[in-house]
Amino acid sequence: MKQKTVFVCQECGSQSPKWLGRCGDCGAWNSFVEERPQDASAATSAHRYALAGTAGSARLYADIEIEQHARLTTGIDELDRVLGGGIVPGSLVLLGGEPGIGKSTLLLQAAAIVARTIGPVLYSSGEESEHQIKLRGERLAVGNAPLYLLAETCLERILEEIARITPALVIVDSVQTIFSMKFQSAPGSIGQVREAATQLLFTAKGQNIPTFLVGHVTKDGSLAGPKALEHVVDTVLYFEGERHHSHRVVRAVKNRFGAVSELGVFEMTSTGLRPVPNPSKMFLAERPSNAPGSAVLCSVEGSRPILVEVQALVSSSTYGTARRMASGIDQQRLSLLLAVLEKRAGLNLIGDDVFVNIAGGMTVDEPAADLGVLAAIASSVRNRVIPAATAMFGEVGLAGEVRGISQASLRVREAAQMGFRRCIMPEANIDPAARLKPSSLDEARDDPERVEGSRSETSRDEDGDCELVGVRTVGEALDALLV
Ligand code: TYD
Ligand code: MG
Repeated sequence: MKQKTVFVCQECGSQSPKWLGRCGDCGAWNSFVEERPQDASAATSAHRYALAGTAGSARLYADIEIEQHARLTTGIDELDRVLGGGIVPGSLVLLGGEPGIGKSTLLLQAAAIVARTIGPVLYSSGEESEHQIKLRGERLAVGNAPLYLLAETCLERILEEIARITPALVIVDSVQTIFSMKFQSAPGSIGQVREAATQLLFTAKGQNIPTFLVGHVTKDGSLAGPKALEHVVDTVLYFEGERHHSHRVVRAVKNRFGAVSELGVFEMTSTGLRPVPNPSKMFLAERPSNAPGSAVLCSVEGSRPILVEVQALVSSSTYGTARRMASGIDQQRLSLLLAVLEKRAGLNLIGDDVFVNIAGGMTVDEPAADLGVLAAIASSVRNRVIPAATAMFGEVGLAGEVRGISQASLRVREAAQMGFRRCIMPEANIDPAARLKPSSLDEARDDPERVEGSRSETSRDEDGDCELVGVRTVGEALDALLV
């Protein structure tokens, strides 16, 4: 009998009975790979996708008891923070990132601590031998902990070992190296990756064993192969950073059990990843003094305010077309801000190359960064320095207006804590109640979006050492900044 085959798009998972050069669903070229599904007659009575440990019938909402399982702490503060306060029992977490960024290092460190403090941990690697992992472990001071290493790529074998050891935590490094014997397609193909993730999900949920999957990222920055994977797992974490810098950022892009866009900041050292409790300090460490084109902006990532330096360089273009390059901020956003600067602040940038960079390889994608980017560009064009103790934040609209943003008080507090004496911010975020009635400070504090203060030169933040300057337009902001 001829075996049935199906061709599956490795980008989107779309299926076709014939090979296609271009996927009709997602438009990817040359993405179809032949896969042989399991023979239907070989399936056992229990479907292999049936969720273990669940009753077949529907249950009444009121009858379901709330299970308050304490989260497991990984012993690494910054990792616990991105997870939303520790690992939720039975959750499946995907950690994505470029090769060499530190995924295996971080998880081995976490595995060692969990093994030492909670119970046995299974670290299954399809990329490195036990010896290689141990060699790394020596650098990380894993020491004497019930940490089981398994160099295995066969999914069924990994599931057997999980059943044998019943660990407190499972780590699978990486999901793209795993294959199931039920499929003949190569490891890393969408069918294999989806099968591995689904089977590990059932193990995680059925036996309440939290599981970390490592996922590789393709050149364009998405998780290799399966978007499908992101839907299966509970939490998706991304490792960011440049290999040439020592710091790394782990960002939650999906979290069923916590806030998204929460950040964990680490520094890669010779003995593994070290959490950085005060990222603002690290990102501002190498700030040049008295240099035009440098501005400090207060951004908020998840629940945490971070000050970063944005640098701009504007120079006359030697070629016909001016270049505009952005790293760390969105290129489109830069084009928009340049248009606003030209039209609303009267700067002439035609024929100039503009380069904008967030120092330290950080990425900022919230609109509150607009004012800082704009200020850095204007500072470079006019060759005037922004005073070193001034920080700023605010969204810029197309009419050149500076719009209010969320969590203003959090940003001001961080700036004041980092020793900034002046904050240029949207007028809308400065509380008018505080200006009219100084006695109503307590009421004003209840409203998180507004910070008491005024446009007059004497306004101060809560602690009284940071002057708050409210601005309504880009013009006002530049007047206040470039003195
Ligand atoms: P790794 O965790 O292997 O990356 P990934 O699993 O994401 O591919 O990280 C490898 C890099 O980290 C490598 O370039 C060496 C460096 N490193 C250190 O600087 N210090 C250390 O203690 C360890 C273990 C690795
Ligand atoms: Mg690795």
